[in-house]
Amino acid sequence: MLHFPEPFKIKMVEPIRKTSKGERLSILKKASYNLFLIPAEDIFIDFLSDSGTSAMSDSQWAGLMQGDESYAGSKSFYRLEQAVRDIFGFRHFIPTHQGRAAEHILFSTVLRPGDIVPNNTHFDTTRANVELQDAIALDLVEEKAFKPEYIHPFKGNMDLEKLEKTIQEKGPEKIPLCMITVTNNSVGGQPVSIKNIRASKEVLSRYGIPLFVDACRYAENCFFIKEREQGYKDKSVLDIAKELFSYADGATMSAKKDGLVNIGGFLALNSDEIFEKVKQKLILIEGFLTYGGLAGRDLEAMARGLYEALDEDYLAHRIGQVRYLGERLIRGGVTIIQPPGGHAIFIDAKSFLPHIPQKDLPAQALVAELYLEGGLRTSEIGTVMFGKKDATGAVIYPELELVRLAVPRRVYTNNHLDYVAQVIRQVYERREEIRGLRIISESPTLRHFTARFEPLEAAAAAGNK
Ligand code: F0G
Repeated sequence: MLHFPEPFKIKMVEPIRKTSKGERLSILKKASYNLFLIPAEDIFIDFLSDSGTSAMSDSQWAGLMQGDESYAGSKSFYRLEQAVRDIFGFRHFIPTHQGRAAEHILFSTVLRPGDIVPNNTHFDTTRANVELQDAIALDLVEEKAFKPEYIHPFKGNMDLEKLEKTIQEKGPEKIPLCMITVTNNSVGGQPVSIKNIRASKEVLSRYGIPLFVDACRYAENCFFIKEREQGYKDKSVLDIAKELFSYADGATMSAKKDGLVNIGGFLALNSDEIFEKVKQKLILIEGFLTYGGLAGRDLEAMARGLYEALDEDYLAHRIGQVRYLGERLIRGGVTIIQPPGGHAIFIDAKSFLPHIPQKDLPAQALVAELYLEGGLRTSEIGTVMFGKKDATGAVIYPELELVRLAVPRRVYTNNHLDYVAQVIRQVYERREEIRGLRIISESPTLRHFTARFEPLEAAAAAGNK
């Protein structure tokens, strides 16, 4: 079969800087082994996030020039409204500057202390925004999500039994809404099937609980549905998206992912009552109803990006590129979450570094080592991000210890990906030499952004084995 390359050509380039290993070691030390603290110009390939890092198209750049900067009633707002209505179908929408602002506006409006929000898996800002209201964020993803090498087409699915049991035990009055995150970022960018969303909606409807979709990567999720779910191969991704959202009462969206923009988001919903309340809050904390914390040009770029992200040649390339990277790692013997997700490859750090116990932060140690080896920036999704302390101060460890390679959209070629795979394979070959890290300072919430680390001494590391 003919191999198709990227369905775009490159009109503008941004040089990236190679550094020596010696330089990288001193950069790493200066940043206290936290890659969030390294200046981007010292990074060669940046896989920290696929969020807001996309390359915009010529049409989007042209749209920036045509953005209408009117304070109220901007033409660009109406174009965005049209796109949101067309694709998502909800009655109301408000633009926000990014996804977490939509989350904050929604949760601070509908949650009361002690309420519960079930989700297949909360993203970290989503969880933090629920907890900010003194409510409880419950992750109810199916158990198979926790087996990295287990292959299943829809490993992001909500566990329907757990969902119903939670409602019965806690009482529907304690659950003002349920969320489903597509794709399920925190367990590997794994998709959720339409069948699972429809069935979740059926359960929730029996108890009068609304369903909201965390829609950041909905286009990628819908492409997986087209590829993998029975009955969908002849449907367009747009039609699949329309069906998906028809089962929901609202959605929060970070357009920094499947909106193909560098900034932007929205909250869309059907309830007139909630809409009245969130409108007031939007004006208070983001801006007037027709710009919501964004410039008119940002609204314009988002309106165009939302359609571009549904282009099926683009999606085949996008999903194919992430898969391409995954396959190269698997061939090198590296254990990754299988099958490869939509936006990222997740390396299983526990099996990459079996000699480093979880308390010595194997995923963070691997993140640091990949930078040292080849200038890669990846992120830790393990104890640093999700580790909690109980009342006695003992650490509660997360199930998975992962390193995420989030691939920005339309930014890197497969040549870059070959280089990345080579770097990781080289580190894999000398993995016994890698030592753990310890935290020397941290903040009380979302500590992964600012924590400082130091390498464990060889002797101390040996004592841990
Ligand atoms: N929900 C999910 C599933 C996300 O992945 C993100 C962001 C958000 C909500 C929040 O959106 O950043 O626009 O405020 N994820 C980024 C990431 C940061 O790197 O995975 P935001």
